[in-house]
Amino acid sequence: MTLLAELRATAGVDEYLADVEEGLQTALAAYPGVAAEAGAEALEGGKRLRPLLVFLASPEGAAPPVEAAVAVELVHMATLVHDDLVDGARLRHGRPSVWSVYGPRVAIATGDYLFARAFATLAATGARDAVGTLAEAAVSLARGEALQRRQAHDPDTSIESYLERCALKTGKLFEAACRLAGGSGEFGLALGIAFQIADDILDCTGDAADTGKMPGTDLREGTPTLPLLLAAREDEVVRRALAGGPLEGVLVRVASTGALERSREVALEYARRARAQVDGGLRREELLALTDAVVNRER
Ligand code: IPE
Ligand code: IPE
Ligand code: MG
Ligand code: MG
Repeated sequence: MTLLAELRATAGVDEYLADVEEGLQTALAAYPGVAAEAGAEALEGGKRLRPLLVFLASPEGAAPPVEAAVAVELVHMATLVHDDLVDGARLRHGRPSVWSVYGPRVAIATGDYLFARAFATLAATGARDAVGTLAEAAVSLARGEALQRRQAHDPDTSIESYLERCALKTGKLFEAACRLAGGSGEFGLALGIAFQIADDILDCTGDAADTGKMPGTDLREGTPTLPLLLAAREDEVVRRALAGGPLEGVLVRVASTGALERSREVALEYARRARAQVDGGLRREELLALTDAVVNRER
């Protein structure tokens, strides 16, 4: 059993995630139509890592909030529906992505619908601060994706600006998940950065049968991820590929530079930073295990 699966076996998680699933369905069902239908398909097969994070991050004595997890997961899925369109990714969760089934217009509308339903769900709880927290994360996501566009095909992208992009497009939503649960935002931010670096390594090494996504998408799109940037410093062929040159055989060259191992070290460093934020609270052991799970994963 994988570590993530073990964490899902934590007492209370099953019931909580079942409530979250129900909340997701309710949120989507508000306005039946093609966006609701495509949105429901997009949600199938996701790991529900962010709802799990909301559960684990909620402090002793507080019931983990279901609406917050629903809203965070809807924002996450909205960005994935748009992200697959922008990245030209045809495969998600081991099946055709929304844009490749319904076309780009429906994909845009579906992402917008998921965003709107996320905010409606949270607003209905009356928690104004929570809506503000999620809005900040959503803006960060958009800024992260915009930064990624600006960095495309640039092998001289600095590691610092790569990490800034990871913080914006992934870390901030993890941070919001923790804050909405009443936990530590710093923990979520560092965890999210570790998670994104691991995702970027998986894009070089992963198997579509495990990840449900096509490997090599980042290289093809010229997205300068940490493993690609580190490899480009060592290997001129990788550098040219990242800049838009021929891609044939390049992932094998990336692996032979040692860039994957060095990227993993950076992911582990962020996992350590996350661990340093874990205090003696209720689910201390589970939160510590989560910092391992986000780096040591195959999907
Ligand atoms: C994918 O996130 C997007 C990234 C931030 C790397 P997940 O790997 O959590 O996607 P799902 O929820 O399982 O679809
Ligand atoms: C994460 O980046 C996407 C967002 C946070 C919106 P990726 O483009 O690497 O995510 P995947 O690999 O498509 O899931
Ligand atoms: Mg993508
Ligand atoms: Mg990726």
